[in-house]
Amino acid sequence: MCGIVGYKGHQQVSSVIVNGLRRLEYRGYDSAGVAIIENGHYVIKKCAGLVEDLEKLVNHSQLKGTVGIGHTRWATHGAPTNENAHPHLDYTGKIVLVHNGIIENYQTLKKKLAKNGVEFVSQTDTEVLACFIGSIYEKVQNFELAVRLALSEVEGTFGIAVLCLDEPDMMIAVRRGSPLVLGLGNNEFIIASDASAIVQHTRQVIYLNDNEMAVIDGDTYVTKTIYDQETDSEIQEVEFELEKIEKGGFDHFMLKEIYEQPETFHNAIRGRLLSAEGNVKLGGLGPVRDKIRAAKRIIITACGTSWHSALVGEYLIEQLAHIPVEVEYASEFRYRNPIIYPDDVLIGISQSGETADTLAALREAKQKGATILGIVNVVGSTIARETDAGVFIHAGPEIGVASTKAFTSQVGVLAMLAIYIGRMIHLSQREAKVIAQELEKIPQKIQQILDNADKIKEIALQYKDAQNFLYLGRGLNFPVALEGALKLKEISYIHAEGYPAAEMKHGPIALIDENLPVVFIATKDDIYDKIISNIEEVRARKGKVIAIATEGDTQILTLADHVIYIPETDSMLTPILAAIPLQLLSYYISVALDRNVDKPRNLAKSVTVE
Ligand code: AGP
Repeated sequence: MCGIVGYKGHQQVSSVIVNGLRRLEYRGYDSAGVAIIENGHYVIKKCAGLVEDLEKLVNHSQLKGTVGIGHTRWATHGAPTNENAHPHLDYTGKIVLVHNGIIENYQTLKKKLAKNGVEFVSQTDTEVLACFIGSIYEKVQNFELAVRLALSEVEGTFGIAVLCLDEPDMMIAVRRGSPLVLGLGNNEFIIASDASAIVQHTRQVIYLNDNEMAVIDGDTYVTKTIYDQETDSEIQEVEFELEKIEKGGFDHFMLKEIYEQPETFHNAIRGRLLSAEGNVKLGGLGPVRDKIRAAKRIIITACGTSWHSALVGEYLIEQLAHIPVEVEYASEFRYRNPIIYPDDVLIGISQSGETADTLAALREAKQKGATILGIVNVVGSTIARETDAGVFIHAGPEIGVASTKAFTSQVGVLAMLAIYIGRMIHLSQREAKVIAQELEKIPQKIQQILDNADKIKEIALQYKDAQNFLYLGRGLNFPVALEGALKLKEISYIHAEGYPAAEMKHGPIALIDENLPVVFIATKDDIYDKIISNIEEVRARKGKVIAIATEGDTQILTLADHVIYIPETDSMLTPILAAIPLQLLSYYISVALDRNVDKPRNLAKSVTVE
């Protein structure tokens, strides 16, 4: 996600900011920029690309000045271009700011400003915020008041650092939903998204709370709410392990990303669920809505974990929209000279948006006249740019090689897509409402599972020395079995196989003995009794059974050696919740085996080669 750095003090501001941005690179970004006040003017340097590209721009200009702000942008609104990079200047040229978060009512604010003749140079919600503050500053001629008044009308999340050309000795930082830390140095102040950009200057920090601002003026500061109530936020010592801070206190990025899922799933559905109407809003599909409606067939192509979410999507779209869906490994599809009809819709799912096989498969289908869509995480990635339309999953950067939060958000987007298509064909408003309302409860249900992680860790420690695992599921849970097996093998190096539970008797049952842990996704649904029979078959051969089960299911306790409960949800959405314990199981086994969890051997985060 985005990174913010602001500095006011006696050091050369440009180098402090650029070095601070380097500390925040781990958060993932696609463009960077700085704004400095030099001799009463703004000097703004920004570019799509890396902090090192920005550093060349800054060094070349030999920027002077003692107050400035900087930003690394993880694109949410608008591709990663120079124009969309932060900092953003308002139309009056007085206000400049950097922002982390999503302004949910930016379109309303933009329309209001445009009506007064304001023109915009970027596609970002951030520029709208800068202009909104600028429009109020024009009236009140008071920097701090303008910031407070503007933010009291803003909906959504922000962490911002703001400067005003008329007040070169001031810097303001405000937080709502996107963390901001104020570092208190020796006659210097540094603002940053997290302490990793501050610790080299000072260990005295204040963690701002939601709707709290820090107003730095000269060599003093005050913290207050945006409603002008002074706050006496505590000054804290910051821990020194930089590495730890970058991981937000978690031991590995993978664990951090597993725990981000309540928030990232919320970000995937936010602003898109029209639960009251029993529908969804997927603005990115507007240009191809009619083509989707006319599709006789949908093909979904992807690799790895994204291919597993595609398999879940097949069930969801066929059940809710009654359109035939075919799921294809991208690497197979691209070389098979596939039969493609002009009214086909092909969806590419990719977290990175750069997977070579998936990109090639999409190009092959485009070549043959299909409409191609993307379900992608990285804004501005090649797949996002080459598809006719798409839906971003807004999961923020996924650093761990093992994909976790991307999977759950991909399935969330696929569920919304199934409703979107279904409601154009025959899905009733009532049915759609049920699913949409259940989607809204998923983040808290994910959190409930995370709150019981210790139990999963205990099980992991008991089975960390197994040489093989079998993962079994039926229906919508079969792809979850595949995903669980992939998670385990790619980070622990233990061989694991996912299989449709009913297929066991056609071969894999020969593997069952007392040394083989078998993970069943055995949640309550209309084929629950069948999975119970499969569990009996494994037990009869002394296999060890670890069951993912629905809260309240007591029957499973009499059959499984270990039961990991997940909250009840609509059976269509079970894969989202069932994946969480499997992510944690593989994580804890891998840690117990002292593997390189975030960078497992032989693997890359994005396979951009064939
Ligand atoms: C999953 O944990 C792996 N990292 C890998 O299978 C990954 O899902 C696959 O390479 C596809 O990547 P993409 O989603 O970025 O296209």
